Amino acid sequence: EKIVLAYSGGLDTSVILKWLKETYDAEIIAFTADIGQKDELDGLEAKALATGASKVYIDDLRDEFAKDFIYPMFQSGALYEGQYLLGTSIARPLIAKRMVDIARAEGATAIAHGATGKGNDQIRFELTAAALAPDIKVIAPWRSEEFRNQFPGRAEMIAYAEKHNIPVQASAAKPYSMDRNLLHISFESGMLEDPWFDASAEENKGMYVLSVSPEDAPDQAEYIELTFEQGNCTAINGERLSPLGVMEKLNELGGKHGIGRVDMVENRFVGMKSRGVYETPGGTILFTAHRKMESITMDREVMHLRDGLISKYSQLVYNGFWFAPERLALQALVQESQKNVTGVVRLKLYKGNVIGAGVKSPVSLYNPNIATMEADPTQAYDQGDATGFIRLNALRLKVSSAVQSE
Ligand code: ARG
Ligand code: SIN
Repeated sequence: EKIVLAYSGGLDTSVILKWLKETYDAEIIAFTADIGQKDELDGLEAKALATGASKVYIDDLRDEFAKDFIYPMFQSGALYEGQYLLGTSIARPLIAKRMVDIARAEGATAIAHGATGKGNDQIRFELTAAALAPDIKVIAPWRSEEFRNQFPGRAEMIAYAEKHNIPVQASAAKPYSMDRNLLHISFESGMLEDPWFDASAEENKGMYVLSVSPEDAPDQAEYIELTFEQGNCTAINGERLSPLGVMEKLNELGGKHGIGRVDMVENRFVGMKSRGVYETPGGTILFTAHRKMESITMDREVMHLRDGLISKYSQLVYNGFWFAPERLALQALVQESQKNVTGVVRLKLYKGNVIGAGVKSPVSLYNPNIATMEADPTQAYDQGDATGFIRLNALRLKVSSAVQSE
């Protein structure tokens, strides 16, 4: 039997690798998706083999992640509970998709992951697997009583790792959990479980990875220009870049100016509230720029229709329904809504802020002649028309008010 394991090289998935091998008497294929976690990938292959994997896949999925996952999601304007740019949520379907592809190629009957039974990630992995490969079995060790009894805490895992010569670095042991990719880094648990804990305080600066704090950002603002074509950013300061190139460049710019830190308590799909801190420097710039590009290029009713669907779309991504028919249907609407979202947005980055500093488009719907307080040379709008417009709209309000006062 072969099992494909989503492997990160951390203590949990290292122990799980060995435990699966022993428990199922199976060949373990370790799989790590490179989705931009940078130095976390160093030495991973050797480590997986030393831990007992029969084969290791470390696949560079960064281009696909940016192009087919991050970009379509940003076209939708997705934002979970008004704050979270879904950095972890959007990565899970890609990881699971590649995992079932490997399972197929290797003739494996099962895939396994190290997500806990209390979180969102397990759902995202497993709904993706169900949608793409319903015949493949999923093993979630953290949900097995046997596994939890064997490893009630970190101490037991460390002891097990030592006993089996599993290499684990002590330096990796941070008092909180992190998840990093091209779009963001998330921090959860540990001291963050207290919602009164101030993660922005000077003494907690050491936690952050992708950004400086706004207090430490340069005193000099920086201007940038983002070019959009049909809702996708295709160039920065006139230089054409791939979606991956855009994300990398924006992360650098946003990180430098202390942009994109979010500290929130969110609602997990499994029912509990959970506190998370996020750094999404590039995503925050892209989100703001995209909205500004839409402001002059998108028809009002199309915008309002799409806006009404943002919370639904965001929930679908958060809850793991990326490969679900309703997300695909919404995506088709989103894509149609973006066909004129083309032009250039100028922004000023300054101490944690993304400030609009100009927008232009060859297909702009903004017409200064119509909006102006001065005389309109085109005569497209007759102020006298507003009298009847208001009167008709007022009719039902007057009727209702009269009935109320009787
Ligand atoms: N709360 C975020 C989400 O549900 C981040 C989860 C982080 N996951 C992790 N394995 N550390 O999308
Ligand atoms: C986990 O429980 O594995 C991480 C947190 C989450 O999935 O929400």
